[in-house]
Amino acid sequence: MSKPYQPPPAPKNLPINAPWALFGGISPKRFMQEYWQKKPLLIRGAIPAFTLESQNGSTNLASPISYEELVEFANQENLESRLIQSDPWRFQHGPFQKKAIPNLNKSNWTLLLQGMEAHHLAAANILSWFRFIPDARLDDLMISIAGIGGGVGPHFDSYDVFLIQMSGRREWRISEQTDLSLNPALPLKILQNFQSEFEWILEPGDMLYLPPHIAHDGIALDAGCQTWSVGFRSPSLKELLQEGLWRLAESLENIPELDKKFSDPKQPATLQAEQLPKELIKQLNAQLQKLKLNQINTFLPGVTAYLSEPKQQAIFESPSKPLNSKAFLKKLTQGKLKTSPQTRILSLGKKVYCNGDEVTKNQTAKVIAAWNALSANKCLENANLGNIQDSSLYEVYLAGWLVFEV
Ligand code: SIN
Ligand code: CO
Repeated sequence: MSKPYQPPPAPKNLPINAPWALFGGISPKRFMQEYWQKKPLLIRGAIPAFTLESQNGSTNLASPISYEELVEFANQENLESRLIQSDPWRFQHGPFQKKAIPNLNKSNWTLLLQGMEAHHLAAANILSWFRFIPDARLDDLMISIAGIGGGVGPHFDSYDVFLIQMSGRREWRISEQTDLSLNPALPLKILQNFQSEFEWILEPGDMLYLPPHIAHDGIALDAGCQTWSVGFRSPSLKELLQEGLWRLAESLENIPELDKKFSDPKQPATLQAEQLPKELIKQLNAQLQKLKLNQINTFLPGVTAYLSEPKQQAIFESPSKPLNSKAFLKKLTQGKLKTSPQTRILSLGKKVYCNGDEVTKNQTAKVIAAWNALSANKCLENANLGNIQDSSLYEVYLAGWLVFEV
């Protein structure tokens, strides 16, 4: 007998100083100090429900999502899916027809589904356990399902990853090797010289944390082996600076006085005509100081906007029967407005950025407070915004970025 595990959502106020089974009895605070970005950690029974259930009776916990359901998800356009076959190595991008995915009794294949937190409550709940790590670092929850022998080959990630064993067993081999050269002959990023240093077989409910650049190889030992990976992105400093600078450059569009042409009535006759004029440098420098373009606080809004952009595959659906703005305000006083699962929301002080836009700009104090609550809790309950005509909250509700809980 088996029944699907139903992961609970994390409590609103995470007890980050208390011991957690998820980290083998240490607190998130200690985990961050001792392991995060530093060294791997294997946790047996990270989800105690799996062990408890098998000890208490004849039931075993199964993954919250079945093979059949995962196969259906792999057919969706708005979900990034990949199929990897390992003998020989082959790689395909989804969406996949049902018949393109091997049966569970076949070996040497794995199906990878990205961003599952947007598609299944169980995945969203598991992700909520990790909200002691800044949202800006979060990438997504990926689910892999495999036949015996299935895996993606020895590789390394530039990401921190929590690999949660959710069904069947997987053998993990890891190495702190510095040779991270890839095999150029293969269609996948596979290490050409993997030398395993540690090996463990993970059972359902176990978890392995890996910091970036630890070489690893996970091979499914059972048909239908499922691993749920919570991944944390770390963009390069170049990416952050470029994205921030582009947005900063764009924001200059909104300053009409910058359309004024450069003029130099005081330019003296020169014998160094090839040199950039001193007057031009002086005027530009004055503008940089005036607009504070050389200061971090001027630069951060663009970076926050960038990091709040949703995944490329995200599709937002406007409500089929949208409320008018008056009915929206009324419903807000009684109902629960939530971020849609594909929505990304980040705060910079009291400014809030949702799906790439600053949504607190030119809003009333009550709307700004509502956005701050949404950013912190991902939901807003019984809010009274006063008697306003329109707000960014209403606009974003019409766009499908925020939805009422039914
Ligand atoms: C997998 O789940 O098969 C791969 C996850 C990983 O190695 O990052
Ligand atoms: Co990996």
